[in-house]
Amino acid sequence: MPINSNLIPIPMNDFQTWVHAKQQRTEHALESTLPTPEIAPHILHEAMRYAVMGGGKRIRALLAYASAEFCGVPAEQADNAASAVELIHAYSLVHDDLPCMDDDDLRRGKPSCHKRFDEATALLVGDALQSLAFQIISQPIEGIEPDIQLKMVHLLATASGSRGMAGGQAIDLASIGKNLNQTELEHMHIHKTGALIRASALLGVYCSNQTNSQKIHAVDQFAQSIGLAFQVVDDILDNEADTKTLGKTAGKDAESNKPTYVTILGIVRAKELASELFNHAIEPLVQYGSESDRLIHLAKFITQRNF
Ligand code: IPE
Ligand code: IPE
Ligand code: MG
Ligand code: MG
Ligand code: MG
Repeated sequence: MPINSNLIPIPMNDFQTWVHAKQQRTEHALESTLPTPEIAPHILHEAMRYAVMGGGKRIRALLAYASAEFCGVPAEQADNAASAVELIHAYSLVHDDLPCMDDDDLRRGKPSCHKRFDEATALLVGDALQSLAFQIISQPIEGIEPDIQLKMVHLLATASGSRGMAGGQAIDLASIGKNLNQTELEHMHIHKTGALIRASALLGVYCSNQTNSQKIHAVDQFAQSIGLAFQVVDDILDNEADTKTLGKTAGKDAESNKPTYVTILGIVRAKELASELFNHAIEPLVQYGSESDRLIHLAKFITQRNF
């Protein structure tokens, strides 16, 4: 029987408390990882902090922590993975906003990195954040075996590169003004957004020193569906929400003539699809009962968010 997302009871207070605690944890971990602006090159370090700190929902870190928790991993063992995915994500946003890409002036409620600094600095911020992500995920992490860490580096590299996020961004730019079919659009979204979301959840499992268990397969199906759902909802919000709520320019996809789930399917069908993807995401998790609550609540948040 299909599961109706509206019927999943969420003890919001408990979930909200957990989200708040893990967002705070992510802020502290990122804060202690980023070089301070007192260290040269000062402007680059200031700009890296500007792009990473004090903004964002930290969904990718939350996914890493939730799947780590699902596998019984203490949060401190997942800190580097959670920070690494947020660093890659922040880099992707800085580059995504550049004039040569989406040309967006607003990000997380502030001027985009290249607006606050300049384009060359924004380019270098992206480069340096990406390197920092790999620096922290490859340094020795207490409790995680070195051969597992090598697999984590490999997973993150694959998800970020030309067969993952960067490749998806290339398809996105090449698709401007084109009328993609649903399969082509799905291919683009799975790469530009889904790949890093999937890696975020899988890295949390890898922190348990497991790379091949029943749980990892469950998390993988969950993460692939929720990764696609994430971008479907991003497309819907670009169409429906306002700039103040989003902290980025609303209506940008239509203005830039981008094919999205809204242009291809229409808003009603796009919302139905987000709900179907939620159902598919949680299917392999429900058998775990309360152990998988966090992941299911996160999936619900991702598909029902309004920012
Ligand atoms: C926005 O991601 C870019 C996409 C991949 C769709 P988020 O909506 O997670 O952005 P922040 O981190 O909360 O700002
Ligand atoms: C961005 O997709 C995906 C990546 C940054 C990899 P969008 O271009 O739709 O993201 P927003 O809407 O600018 O946040
Ligand atoms: Mg883009
Ligand atoms: Mg964009
Ligand atoms: Mg968007």
